[in-house]
Amino acid sequence: MKEMIKIENICVVGAGNMGHQIALCAAINGFKVKCCDIHEEILQKAKEFADTYLSERVDKGKLSREVAEGARSSISFTTDLKEAAGDADLVVEAVLEKLDLKRRVFSQLDEICPPHTILATNSSYIVSSKIADATKRPGKVCNMHFFNPALVMKLVEVVKGPHTAEETVESTMEAAKKMGKIPVLLQKEIYGFLVNRILTAIRSEALCLYDLGVASFEDIDKAVVHGLGHPMGPFQLLDLTGIDLSYSVHMERYRESGDPAHKPSPVIVEKFVKGEWGRKTGKGFYDYPQNS
Ligand code: 3HC
Repeated sequence: MKEMIKIENICVVGAGNMGHQIALCAAINGFKVKCCDIHEEILQKAKEFADTYLSERVDKGKLSREVAEGARSSISFTTDLKEAAGDADLVVEAVLEKLDLKRRVFSQLDEICPPHTILATNSSYIVSSKIADATKRPGKVCNMHFFNPALVMKLVEVVKGPHTAEETVESTMEAAKKMGKIPVLLQKEIYGFLVNRILTAIRSEALCLYDLGVASFEDIDKAVVHGLGHPMGPFQLLDLTGIDLSYSVHMERYRESGDPAHKPSPVIVEKFVKGEWGRKTGKGFYDYPQNS
């Protein structure tokens, strides 16, 4: 039996919507974490979020002062990828959902990281076999997919590619458990994994009903919340995960397949062009005063 990889140091690349919360979640659960982004202002926001979140959790009685202080001193922020990933046992890449960019990042990480380091992508849809050959360690490459908001949502999808070694999968599942998550294993790769395939089916139907003028987006959300018991409706969720993400995922798929069925729906294109990307821009389907 192959040896498990001992994971103590985690590097998160990309401190945006997902990355900053993945990093903080790892720090709260006892890992040493370095969070990296090329944009200083995004790192600054991540740092401020960590400070506010930790102190609010202490005030709410959800976290002991000791754990909060431990987490704050275990997490650091840098724009220097070498500094961030040089001693990592596990890297979670959470950069924009663009294949070329992810391949570039993985190739750089392969140069920087020690040979034992696992390189995992938090991609929502892209399977790691599209990225693994940008490295000389395909056996150490897999998907580790978190859900938004990553500090709250328990699920992590770990996806084994044909190139992924068994010990990579086992060590990644263990790291997810240690982060307080519930990991599920996909034994083989499939576009969109489990949750996003199911979510896409719901979302496509909701967007179709809206585009046909059958009901307002508010009423479709109410129907899903009160008729199916989901915590949020599909339009509220689009605002949370980002309309820009939905747009670029559909466009990447469409570019690859050439199938018009993969194009984003008209209302997603309209909102994307207007810069109404959801919570992060203060407006999506709904308004979010002061970028709440
Ligand atoms: N960041 C961190 N914590 C948050 C948060 C955020 N953005 N929003 C809410 N929380 C925490 C609150 O602090 C609170 O914690 P506590 O109960 O321990 O004090 C808890 O979540 C509940 O918050 P609220 O009472 O303010 O609000 P709600 O009860 O309405 O919950 C929600 C908010 C957790 C976002 C809930 O509406 C929910 O679960 N929505 C569905 C989210 C979902 O489906 N996510 C998956 C999206 S798909 C995806 O991520 C795939 C990717 O590839 C795109």
